[in-house]
Amino acid sequence: MKKFYQMTIDERREAVLTETGLPAETLDALSGVNGLCEETAGRMIENVIGLYSLPLGIARNFIINGKKYLIPMVIEEPSVVAAASNGARIAAAGGGFTAAADEPRMIGQLQILDLPDREQAKTALEAEKESLLNLAAETCPRLIERGGGPVDIEIRTLEETAAGPMLVLHLIMDVRDVMGANLIDTALEALAPQVEKISGGTVRLRILSNLADRRLARAACSVPVPALAFKGYDGETVRDRMLEAAAFAEADSYRAVTHNKGIMNGIDAVVLATGNDWRAVEAGAHAWSLNKTGKSEAKKENAGGRIRPLSHWKKDPETGNLLGSIELPMAVGTVGGATRVHPGAAAALQLMGVQSAQALSGVIASVGLAQNLAALKALSTEGIQRGHMSLHAKQMAVAAGAQGEAADRIAARMVRENRVSASYAAELAAEMKKESLHA
Ligand code: MEV
Repeated sequence: MKKFYQMTIDERREAVLTETGLPAETLDALSGVNGLCEETAGRMIENVIGLYSLPLGIARNFIINGKKYLIPMVIEEPSVVAAASNGARIAAAGGGFTAAADEPRMIGQLQILDLPDREQAKTALEAEKESLLNLAAETCPRLIERGGGPVDIEIRTLEETAAGPMLVLHLIMDVRDVMGANLIDTALEALAPQVEKISGGTVRLRILSNLADRRLARAACSVPVPALAFKGYDGETVRDRMLEAAAFAEADSYRAVTHNKGIMNGIDAVVLATGNDWRAVEAGAHAWSLNKTGKSEAKKENAGGRIRPLSHWKKDPETGNLLGSIELPMAVGTVGGATRVHPGAAAALQLMGVQSAQALSGVIASVGLAQNLAALKALSTEGIQRGHMSLHAKQMAVAAGAQGEAADRIAARMVRENRVSASYAAELAAEMKKESLHA
């Protein structure tokens, strides 16, 4: 029987339908046959003149909290989907991933300026916390029905800024299954006049914070050593080399950023497939990788602080297993925004069968960890270029104007001759065209 990656695109669609029992319309939305149309796109953003497509692939072998998942990934980069499936297959040998996420709490900020007495304003705002929370609650009755709503208010003082001292009010809201930006911004705008009255100051900025550090997602895996054996490398060697690779990322910002970029390959691809705001997730992730650096350490390192890897790897002292873990902010939703408006995004959520933003967050964190597992394993053994180059060669053949089988033949020849370049692809494509004209 053909493996999923060996199938034609149509065969893969059939296989997904059989495996999931999803209605054909869902798959049509995912495959683009019946995906986003211009009319809907025109209601999503401004000045629309068309649609822009990206490949959607399915990563396989994922077991998360004991349940099997097919993972939809939207990405332009070759090897990412294969690597995610590979990482998931290795993790599955140890039972897959365990994943969890915090309650979906987002933070909104009010910047309060022109305060005659900062201390007094702070005390007054703290005394009015309940009434302010009630006022914020009036803006989101449906959210409250669903079990969410405003949770807390915190007041912070910024003593030294270029614009002088200021107070910052943080509104913390449980946003349940939406990303939360609109809910938070609406509540903040409603609070602003009352906050001005209580504090005696002027409220200027009223906006969500993308440092969603109350909404962290986590995943972990425990990989038995034999599952790491690979192309003549025994499992122990691979594990130890992966630990050396992880130590490199822990110690060096230049490596940590690349390590994290690999993790984001997986995370962004699912965030994008599900119609979520990948810039928000990116901003949060990279801030989190800095935020974990203690202040004193940051000073020791350099003015900007050291970037830390989002994932950590160690050896289980009892079993020798390779233990991996990841934690990062995850501001994603399963309702609201493009998640339901874009037919492909809605279908992607249906394919995974995730019912809540928290469940989706855990799945996304697991994909990030699988991606990292596969990258570290490849990098610390044969390198990534071999696998990467064959796909890269296909892209170059297509870019050179070759199609279908011709593109495959050009790609295979470039890899065989170890000459993968745009100019050689163009040369071969031209040669092939000439041959077909003379045939
Ligand atoms: C490439 O897109 C991602 C990697 O560079 C990640 C890593 O180095 O860990 C392979």
